[in-house]
Amino acid sequence: MKIAVFGDIHGNIGALKAAYDAAQAAGAEKNYHLGDLGGYSPFVNEVVDFLAEHDIEGVQGNYDEAVAHDREHCGCKAEDPVQEEMAGWSFLWTKEHASKKAKDFMRILPFSIYFSALGKKVLLFHATPSKNNLYWHEDRPEKFFREMAEKTDADVMIYGHTHKPYRKDFNGKVFVNAGSVGKPKDGDPRACVTLLTITTDKVNVEFLRVPYDIKKTADSIIARGLPEYFADRLKEAR
Ligand SMILES: [Fe+2]
Repeated sequence: MKIAVFGDIHGNIGALKAAYDAAQAAGAEKNYHLGDLGGYSPFVNEVVDFLAEHDIEGVQGNYDEAVAHDREHCGCKAEDPVQEEMAGWSFLWTKEHASKKAKDFMRILPFSIYFSALGKKVLLFHATPSKNNLYWHEDRPEKFFREMAEKTDADVMIYGHTHKPYRKDFNGKVFVNAGSVGKPKDGDPRACVTLLTITTDKVNVEFLRVPYDIKKTADSIIARGLPEYFADRLKEAR
């Protein structure tokens, strides 16, 4: 069973299309997204249309929840005051430009998706099994992984939010951060899509890195009135 997981797309339709094509070429039988559909790049409505047209189920990210409910803040944590200001600008822009259809789509996304594949129980969520805005980095202590695992009986957990992909095996469970399709922060600016291959005896995880026209998205960020700051960060993947 081969499953493609699209994390943190963030309005980057060029990256999503390239990642989707790569995942289908690699034999994906089922596709899921991990939320955070808008913000930073301008194509939130196009991303929602693409997911709907291709029947890609997924979960609600903190950004989707905040946009859909017209919150004051995106729920993202900034590293410094400049980033805080830029993120606020991007959030406001996204709330203004997301269509009613896109907001309705984001509002009803489930918090998590649970399914079984070849005897393995799999749980998808945006950030952690109980909170959609907590950053679950790979260097969290094992105590944290244990606490998160205790919240569910899943064998495999797949999530995003940090935009940095990893796989960690601990206590017989598989923890997968799927990275980000549209705004990677791990120094590799190519789109990231995660391919999960589940067989009766193992779980294989591949992070496909897919080239796309980064300059085109970066230029659109500026042309559509989003902060140039995010165009620069897209190219640098930070
Ligand atoms: Fe995100």
